Amino acid sequence: MKTVQPSLFCFVFLLTLLNLGCKENKKESQTDMETENTSMESDHIAKSTFGEMPDGTTVDKYTLKNAMGMEVDVITYGGIITRWTAPDKNGKYDDVVLGFDDLKSYLDGNPYFGALIGRYGNRIAKGKFSLDGQTYTLATNDGENHLHGGLKGFDKVIWAATPKSTDDGAILELTYTSVDGEEGYPGNLDVKVTYTLTGDNQLEVLYEAVTDKPTVVNLTQHSYFNLSGDFTQSVLDHELFLDADAYLPVDGGLIPTGELRPVSGTPFDFTTSKVMGKEIGADDAQLKLGKGYDHCWVLNEEESGFGLAASAYHPGTGRVLEVYTDEPGIQFYSGNFLDGTLPAQKGGVYGQRAGFCLETQHYPDSPNQPSFPSVRLNPGETYKTKTTFKLTTK
Ligand code: GLA
Repeated sequence: MKTVQPSLFCFVFLLTLLNLGCKENKKESQTDMETENTSMESDHIAKSTFGEMPDGTTVDKYTLKNAMGMEVDVITYGGIITRWTAPDKNGKYDDVVLGFDDLKSYLDGNPYFGALIGRYGNRIAKGKFSLDGQTYTLATNDGENHLHGGLKGFDKVIWAATPKSTDDGAILELTYTSVDGEEGYPGNLDVKVTYTLTGDNQLEVLYEAVTDKPTVVNLTQHSYFNLSGDFTQSVLDHELFLDADAYLPVDGGLIPTGELRPVSGTPFDFTTSKVMGKEIGADDAQLKLGKGYDHCWVLNEEESGFGLAASAYHPGTGRVLEVYTDEPGIQFYSGNFLDGTLPAQKGGVYGQRAGFCLETQHYPDSPNQPSFPSVRLNPGETYKTKTTFKLTTK
């Protein structure tokens, strides 16, 4: 995360904060925005209705397209990417992210497929942390711990959307105001996430936020990839590279112990590309705790800013996913908790390891671990971080 000094963005968000007390005003401005959206549509972005929330709120779907033929569907519920097509080595485009066909399936129990995660990606131990001597108690939704923003994280709220078309791609800006005390967090937090589909099959995800009280923020994107395009297949045949010489071992609740452990000589070494399944069944205490890989790797590029953090390759189709970020960590999750109970998008069910996640982030439980890079955001600062997913073939 980079924080920058007050900017125009910050000023605009502060103005929004002034509106917080007045729900009616907020509703009006969202309606205006929706009307404007429709008129701003063009060839590279289209809006349709995805479904209706139990309270009658419409959930929209935006399809971002580029000149190459890539399409990314994003819904306003959770900012979820429900479909994302990518070419194979023969130029055939296919959906490469796990998702559901209808809103009801997302509402009935989504294991964070495609979702925006906030205010805090991954776990905060016992749902507690302190800032300036005050202890905050968060919602606990993963045993005694807080996971991915709590009971109603950013993956379960409706975002306001502003679409823009570009010459060779499209942009979708999503905004959401998380009020002071939501899920236990301090401060009104205004969040903006911008999805930019470029002409060369890159999806940039830019996260920005401002607060009116000191708080903690750690946003991420939780797409589950299966580059084969066949969601009945496990992803264990994909090759993975992680630019990380160390990872964070965890305890039984998947909270980092605080140690930065070298990957060398362990199943966690992906510094040279390796098939995901090669050592996932190894007799390793950390793999047993995670039921596979479910850990945060410490990226080597931390000091030098934005760079390649990870890449995955599916030999059968030739598809390659590259992940670039300015974040210090990446959670590689090998879909261990998928258990064959959820309906798959193209038929069948999602079995264990039908998808993998590469969640760029600050380290889990950072608010309680002073040795980890800080996740604190102060009033007057802007949280700003970018991750780019690039899909190519080889
Ligand atoms: C993250 C967590 C996992 C799990 C998944 C979603 O990757 O680290 O433990 O919660 O999200 O199921």
